[in-house]
Amino acid sequence: MSSAFRAPRGTFDLVPPRSEAFLAVREAMAAPLRLAGYGYVETPTFEDTGLFVRGVGESTDVVTKEMYTFTTRGGDSVTLRPEGTASVLRAALEHGLDRGPLPVKLWYSGSFYRYERPQKGRFRHFSQVGAEVLGTEDPAADAETVLLALDAYRALGLSQVRLLVNSLGSVESRPAYRAALQDYLRRLHLDAETRRRVDVNPLRVLDDKRPDLQEALTEAPLMADHLSAADRSHHDAVRELLADAGVVWEDAPRLVRGLDYYTRTTFEFVHDGLGAQSAVGGGGRYDGLSESIGGPRLPGVGWALGVDRTVLALEAEGSPLPARPGVDVFAVPLGAPARRRAFGLVAGLRQAGVGADLALDGRGLKGAMKAADRSGARYALVLGERDLAADVVQVKDLSTGEQSAVPLADVVPHLQERLT
Ligand code: HAM
Repeated sequence: MSSAFRAPRGTFDLVPPRSEAFLAVREAMAAPLRLAGYGYVETPTFEDTGLFVRGVGESTDVVTKEMYTFTTRGGDSVTLRPEGTASVLRAALEHGLDRGPLPVKLWYSGSFYRYERPQKGRFRHFSQVGAEVLGTEDPAADAETVLLALDAYRALGLSQVRLLVNSLGSVESRPAYRAALQDYLRRLHLDAETRRRVDVNPLRVLDDKRPDLQEALTEAPLMADHLSAADRSHHDAVRELLADAGVVWEDAPRLVRGLDYYTRTTFEFVHDGLGAQSAVGGGGRYDGLSESIGGPRLPGVGWALGVDRTVLALEAEGSPLPARPGVDVFAVPLGAPARRRAFGLVAGLRQAGVGADLALDGRGLKGAMKAADRSGARYALVLGERDLAADVVQVKDLSTGEQSAVPLADVVPHLQERLT
């Protein structure tokens, strides 16, 4: 029976057993970052609307169509965060991290919100793990972040993730390219909406999936041909480091990302088992973002990996999803005094680091043993009145059926020993 309410459209609950896969994916994404010395950062799930308008870009789909924006009782306009980079940068500047030793390396994990049309792999509430490296232009930072994402996918056993890499040029070299692209696009027969796009955000037109438009774009000028010497050498250095590390990638000269802050390196991780929403993660460099939110010059590079889509990718590859760890010991008390004693015993086991649970609701032997089996425990602790009188508990090996009496005072170390 369900209640009168359901999870809102475009959202879903994480319940066992599938929820375990989400936890495992988050942990696998965070582990390489922790190993590389990234510090954990957590920011509020909502921010001043202006942060995203200025940071992500006024003409992006995210800002114009997808934000959950509302006015607070105090009259402020706030927005549920659609992404993490602007917030992390805001927090780093607010706490003066930019005035300490650089670079600052940070990672985060949490919920994000975009009012998109829900479909497979596209949700209104979704989960990302992200990494940001602030205060360096070194191409090694770009390459490092890419490697750390690949480490996560490898640890998860994902084998069909492809890496796409591009350079979008710098704040200085982009305007000339933008103008050349607009020139080209204005000569095409385009619908009104696309023409408007050409005016405000021509790079996004390259990303349009309509086959006839893609056809018309085959001759469009590419950023790769408009990179400055400095952009080119940065891009070459990133590619060299990736090649040295044995990374396989595809140069994707038409890769434009949906957020306006990108400069130079941009990349995306795609999985072909997912259908239209194939990007399992993406990121890049954002050397001008700090200035656009009113900060000092503070170049940065990072990524966010989608937890939800990564779980879908694991399912698409048929990888076994991680299961709940389960308990090692399950107590089966028979009668009220035994229940009281078993409760303390289980608490003691847990304190000693042994996973333990017990039958509730005064279950009889049969029902409680069934619960013990279901729990996945290796041992059942059967405690009846006669056992209590003799100060012992029956330790039953649930796989062999073997049973022996162990003094109650010794049962914690006894089980610790048997479980190692
Ligand atoms: P993004 O490409 O917008 O980048 O999102 C990163 C990942 O989040 C996507 O590749 C996808 O896996 C997941 N994602 C995005 N939207 C949805 C959705 N509606 N439903 C499910 N999953 C979704 C960013 O957010 C940038 N902040 C990444 C970044 C960090 N760039 C530099 N630093």
